[in-house]
Amino acid sequence: MTPAALQQPFRVGGVEMPSRFFLAPLAGYTSLAFRLCARELGGLGLATTDLVNARSLLEKRPRAFDLIETSPEDRPLAVQIYGPSKEELCAAAQMLEARGVTLIDLNMGCPARKVVRGGGGSALMREADKAIALVRALVESVKAPVTVKMRLGWDDANITAPFFAREFEQAGVAAITIHGRTREQGFGGLVNRAGIHAVVEAVQRIPVIGNGDIRSVEDARTMFIETGCAAAGIGRGGLLNPWIFRQCDAELVRGEQIAPPACEERVDFMARHFEKLMALRTEKVACVLFRKIAKWYGIALRVPRPMRHRLVMIKDAAEFRALMAELRAMKPPAPGREPHIPIPSGPNARW
Ligand SMILES: Cc1cc2nc3c(=O)[nH]c(=O)nc-3n(C[C@H](O)[C@H](O)[C@H](O)COP(=O)(O)O)c2cc1C
Repeated sequence: MTPAALQQPFRVGGVEMPSRFFLAPLAGYTSLAFRLCARELGGLGLATTDLVNARSLLEKRPRAFDLIETSPEDRPLAVQIYGPSKEELCAAAQMLEARGVTLIDLNMGCPARKVVRGGGGSALMREADKAIALVRALVESVKAPVTVKMRLGWDDANITAPFFAREFEQAGVAAITIHGRTREQGFGGLVNRAGIHAVVEAVQRIPVIGNGDIRSVEDARTMFIETGCAAAGIGRGGLLNPWIFRQCDAELVRGEQIAPPACEERVDFMARHFEKLMALRTEKVACVLFRKIAKWYGIALRVPRPMRHRLVMIKDAAEFRALMAELRAMKPPAPGREPHIPIPSGPNARW
């Protein structure tokens, strides 16, 4: 896509998107607290909740309601549901619509064992008739736009995403996000952009969101050029650098360069993330949730090793705030080569 094409207003099922750079869901990381902090930085289009089990929603499980927690600033937002049962998915979608949810996203890509064993996530890609009937019923059950997120297929011998994309468009789906890997690939190997391009070619009108391994503005540019996708879904790259949405929007759409965030800004972001978790959860839960992501903050910010250890073991807010004061008082590390940051391994067949 050319910069002029990228500047065109972009809608998903009639809902205007503030940008073409979307936050891909990362269960356990991209919760409301992170989304709100990332949105404050600008450039973020659509965000999606963690995948939530349709049956758990219908059974009103508190954990499921934590996952769909949102606020007026957390817009536009899609709630992602999964499950094997057409009836449950439709009922869950209706319940979400009644709660004012803007977009419903169906997960057809998750390779995690507990999701696939139940017949949800990427398992649906092995049952074409069932998947198509399910998507059709889901679209018909609500007025809200329905989108689907899927992988290229089950394995290299079964690259079914172009077929499904065509069928889902006929069924009335508003957009498709495609992670350019197969279920068998898990999170290994390289993202297959030619595979994403094949999905773009397969549909007639609906936008395709290209997803996988976008960690820089250049990666996003390559995704647009090589696949022809209409928007880019950024998951782990957004976790490591939440400024990436603004950087992509500035550079690829408006041709403007923006300076990378200073070390202080990165520390401020981490502190805001923690404080938002504190505002939304109990102190104990906020600390436990934060520990999971603290590891990546520690490496990205080049926090000295002993402090990094304290960061991932944080027990209460006072300890966190004292650590932030220490960090701010330190001389920021000299800019050098970007540190190597191990990427969180996502849900895979063994999960
Ligand atoms: C820790 C983790 C959790 C994930 N959770 C979800 C999820 O809840 N729903 C989903 O559709 N994809 C999920 N994914 C897949 C991502 O949305 C995305 O498709 C994948 O990570 C590739 O994009 P990326 O390289 O930009 O991260 C998850 C991935 C990771 C690493």
